[in-house]
Amino acid sequence: MTTIPTRELGTTGQQVSAIALGAMPMGSLTDEKTSVALLDRFVADGGTFLDTADCYAWWWAHGTNGGQSEELLGRWMADRRNRDDVVLATKGSATLRDPSRSWPAPDVEPDWTDARTQFVGASAPVLRRSLEASLRRLGTDHVDLYYVHVDDEATPLEETLEALAAFVEEGKIRWYGWSNVRTERLERIHELCDANGWPAPVALQQQHSYLRPHDGAASVSIVDERQLAHLRARPELTLVAYSPVLKGLYDMAPARRSGHWLLEPYAGGDAERRFAAVEAVARELGVPPTRVVLAWLLAQQDPRVVPILGTSRLDRYEDQVAAVGLELSPAHLELLTAP
Ligand SMILES: NC(=O)c1ccc[n+]([C@@H]2O[C@H](COP(=O)([O-])OP(=O)(O)OC[C@H]3O[C@@H](n4cnc5c(N)ncnc54)[C@H](OP(=O)(O)O)[C@@H]3O)[C@@H](O)[C@H]2O)c1
Repeated sequence: MTTIPTRELGTTGQQVSAIALGAMPMGSLTDEKTSVALLDRFVADGGTFLDTADCYAWWWAHGTNGGQSEELLGRWMADRRNRDDVVLATKGSATLRDPSRSWPAPDVEPDWTDARTQFVGASAPVLRRSLEASLRRLGTDHVDLYYVHVDDEATPLEETLEALAAFVEEGKIRWYGWSNVRTERLERIHELCDANGWPAPVALQQQHSYLRPHDGAASVSIVDERQLAHLRARPELTLVAYSPVLKGLYDMAPARRSGHWLLEPYAGGDAERRFAAVEAVARELGVPPTRVVLAWLLAQQDPRVVPILGTSRLDRYEDQVAAVGLELSPAHLELLTAP
């Protein structure tokens, strides 16, 4: 049996499991039985930190705007009577104004280019309505961590922050965080919180793995060197890493992963050296490369990283969670850090 260690969420004093479980596919792509088995197993392993969002997952359930994942978590927590044993994170701002426009018919693929133009955003009334709906689906009176899911540059930050401060004041959320956001916006968020006495964010949820984005990748979602420096200067902000195993890229043969859409921001630079370093360590330890990546993320101290597992399969979950017991030697860490 695995025992997942804990980490402090920012400087809140709240401990969360050092690995979070992502509920994105639960209730849409992943059926109830498998989702419940994953959740039960995670909790049995010492997991407490659960990650969902109100929009999960419209792109796997035609004719909806998401909500299935929160509903499933709500049913599971009610059944297990464990709401107070978990640290529940959800997100708002990324449901769509009109999902049928981005996915008109089940026999075509959802159009993500269109979807990205019609997020509901983070205005005060939208966030309030979204949070109330999330609480209803989750069957709880508060969430522990509420993220602005996609940064909304069309709404004044002051409006969003004042709304979040009000949710904290009302006890509907305990803390908040931001996701898919550029460092300069985070800097501004901190300035505004300091100036107005608003509570500051405690978590930053970004795409973050072992590969590094190439110079000029300019992604709002991927942690780059500047964002790492920001995090080092702000221990009150925990880095919560989504897509930590980059959808299994590390376990794929080079021919299979080449041209993968997720690889584009990393291609060039030192990506090939990094793949080679992970593969060398994995070979030496006799474990899958993905497990090495997760162990490496867990070994990071500055900033500390809480990866969110995203698999929908129990066997893969077991394979990945075993990273908590994988000790990387100083030589392995050195090889991985400077491949
Ligand atoms: N804030 C955001 O914008 C944002 C964005 C994305 C995700 N998230 C959160 O982060 C969580 C995890 O993100 P993620 O789902 O992108 O994580 P991930 O673990 O990088 O990706 C999961 C996907 O990779 C596949 N996969 C994993 N290991 C594999 C392997 N060895 N070989 C082949 N395929 C493999 C899984 O397939 P199987 O299911 O078949 O194992 C699943 O489809 C989500 O559940 C969600 O809570 C947040």
